[in-house]
Amino acid sequence: MPPADTATDGWIRIAAIADLDRPRPLIPVTLQGRRLVLFRDEEGQLGLIGRHCPHRGADLCYGRLEDNGLRCPFHGWHFDRTGQCVEQPAEPEGSRMHEQIRVPMVPVREENGAIWAQVGVELEQAAASEQEA
Ligand code: FES
Repeated sequence: MPPADTATDGWIRIAAIADLDRPRPLIPVTLQGRRLVLFRDEEGQLGLIGRHCPHRGADLCYGRLEDNGLRCPFHGWHFDRTGQCVEQPAEPEGSRMHEQIRVPMVPVREENGAIWAQVGVELEQAAASEQEA
């Protein structure tokens, strides 16, 4: 097991799995100077996504974990674990504007009691790759 916060094969330890073992499984993470938020969704999957809402810049660390994602505390834009915006409550019904909106994401995995984030990957590219898969 490498020391905490040491990159190994492009992955860096960002937290212990136990750090998310709480009623609200969400913590802020700074990775290579990028401010991110790590959370576990209702399917038990991890998301590591940009911390600032692309609407008005609200801090998503104060968002609500609901509907299998993270909802911005200001105006309710809702993001899934890939960083994709999946809902904008103030938009007219049927609007597809949200499909063009996403926050950066970083691939994560759980191993040996820790949560690891992939480094050296452009965050937006990672998001695009996730979407294409
Ligand atoms: S600042 Fe996030 S939805 Fe408006």
